[in-house]
Amino acid sequence: MIQLHDLQFEPFISEAEIENAITKVADQLNEEYHGKNPVFLGVLNGAFMFASEVIKRFKGDCEVSFVKLGSYEGTSTTGVVKTLVGLNQQLKGRNVVILEDIVDTGNTLEEINRILELEGVEEYQVATLFFKPEAYKKAFEIKFKGLEIPNKFIVGYGLDYDGLGRNLTQVYKRKE
Ligand code: IMP
Ligand code: MG
Repeated sequence: MIQLHDLQFEPFISEAEIENAITKVADQLNEEYHGKNPVFLGVLNGAFMFASEVIKRFKGDCEVSFVKLGSYEGTSTTGVVKTLVGLNQQLKGRNVVILEDIVDTGNTLEEINRILELEGVEEYQVATLFFKPEAYKKAFEIKFKGLEIPNKFIVGYGLDYDGLGRNLTQVYKRKE
């Protein structure tokens, strides 16, 4: 068990399970994007670890870019997604793969969809390490998913509780 700020968390997903999930997604990306010079667009802050691991496993040319969005306060979403750092690269005509740590309600994804459509990107897909099917409320199909998890608040492997826990190499869930 660990404590972050006022909350307690217990081990939930091991390093080995995370590693397997990343390998699965990386294999799918290698198959789908081989020879296509994709742009991997990581969503900061949460996706930094997943982005690093999945990009290291990609064989062939690719480019890497990041945007920074935020919606969470404490352990719940505010419903309002703020763009903290926007796009700084032309993506028109490129194969874009959005890299997310977790897709929860899908609000963040919706905001990214809006940004990419304004950019004139015709084709893009989402690869996420974690997915909460019970919380997801949008129609946009998420093509590459590492692990489906129940609707619980988790930390570790890039995910935080009010800034803490991103450095943990395994995933913990909030103790009930
Ligand atoms: P959405 O916009 O509701 O899909 O939430 C997406 C963002 O909220 C993620 O990129 C995370 O930064 C954050 N988030 C969602 N669920 C969790 C969680 O269980 N723990 C920590 N952060 C989360
Ligand atoms: Mg995030």
